[in-house]
Amino acid sequence: MGNYSVVGGNRLEGDLTVQGSKNAVLPILAATILNKGKSYLHNCPKILDVCNMINILKAIGCSVIWEDDVLIIDSSIITTDKIPENYVQTMRSSIIVLGSVLGRLKSVMISFPGGCSIGVRPIDLHIKALKQMNINIYDTSGFLKCTTNEIKGSTIHLDYPSVGATENIMLVAVLSSGTTKIYNAAKEPEIMELEIFLNTMGAKVSGAGTDCIIIEGVSKLKDVVYTVMPDRIVAGTFLAATAITGGELLLKNVHANHLEAICSKLEEMGCFIKSNDNSLFIRSDGDLNAINLIRTSPHPGFPTDMQAQIMACLSIAKGTSIISETIFESRFKHVPELSKMGADIIIEGRLAIIKGVDKLHGSEVFAEDLRGGAALIIAGLAAEGKTVVHNSNHIIRGYEDFDDKLKQLGANINYFD
Ligand code: UD1
Repeated sequence: MGNYSVVGGNRLEGDLTVQGSKNAVLPILAATILNKGKSYLHNCPKILDVCNMINILKAIGCSVIWEDDVLIIDSSIITTDKIPENYVQTMRSSIIVLGSVLGRLKSVMISFPGGCSIGVRPIDLHIKALKQMNINIYDTSGFLKCTTNEIKGSTIHLDYPSVGATENIMLVAVLSSGTTKIYNAAKEPEIMELEIFLNTMGAKVSGAGTDCIIIEGVSKLKDVVYTVMPDRIVAGTFLAATAITGGELLLKNVHANHLEAICSKLEEMGCFIKSNDNSLFIRSDGDLNAINLIRTSPHPGFPTDMQAQIMACLSIAKGTSIISETIFESRFKHVPELSKMGADIIIEGRLAIIKGVDKLHGSEVFAEDLRGGAALIIAGLAAEGKTVVHNSNHIIRGYEDFDDKLKQLGANINYFD
């Protein structure tokens, strides 16, 4: 599973170019199934989740190759509508290929994604929407079989602005007959990115970024060349790492408007932040203030994907902070690990009450999920002595060359098997 060892105490300093976005590229990779042709992706991050998605694409018949730093997917031939179960179980976001395989073949068979370390992962909203689009759905011993003779556009009101359901509906609707309207759609930047990608491929999608997305079905798509947007959560993770170590960092290749909720909390904590179109500078004296309340919520609220990293920072802030996790019910698995390092955190249902301590100390800890793992590294950067973070495969699911990048900024960190 891999491990990181971190010796705390070094301040981070320097500049860093942010990798391509995981949560944008996964639905984009799924979308490449639709065009019966070639997709050329620039700035695709080399991370484990992307490898898993590439394996799914290959397993259903696509040819996928890296040519220098460009990922080329050829979906001219699709040989099966069955998504291999092992990939769906290892990567819950693979449910996103349901929409594109169904859109392309009018049938798909996929296992239920099941739960994962951050909570149960229902797909009832996806299923309800598909039924409205003239798709027959059968649940056969853990597998979901979807078939239709015609995908029909429909008006869908989501009960919750689910990112995954919004993406799946967009993917199913691209090659449908008629027009689909999604009300109460997710507004995350990654949804806007999917709209731009699909339109570059010849789709007719509008409204992403608002709560109503309109997809007019088309009959044909074309080859596409695309550059994936920067990863706002990776950017936020490095901002948090700089904040806790009292460092200064210039992030390049960022969309500062995607980071507003994160930056406003870091400013409340006492960090100095200045942004330009494509870059963002942060300076911290390491003396962080507590925050009365951070509530995770759908975009443009504070992202659940930054909850753990900001908690690591608050664990040594002056005073008591409260974090309310409203998106996932068990996304506090990093708390017992932070406690091993000396953090004073109490969980009350979906609330975490964090009493800032003077210092964290190095310890042996276990990453239970991707962002929780990143939070333990952040805590380790500020802790006295050595921290070993086990189960680090969770971290390489989403962070490209994490240790090398931190090292370049001055951290004392090493990866070992
Ligand atoms: C979620 C996050 C996204 C993050 C991603 C990876 C939100 C709104 N979504 O996206 O920002 O990048 O995890 O960590 O912040 N739900 C249902 N039924 C469904 C689908 C979802 O009840 O059919 C519930 C989920 O249990 C959860 C909430 O809706 O409580 C948000 O889920 P959703 O946005 O679909 O999750 P992801 O797409 O994984």
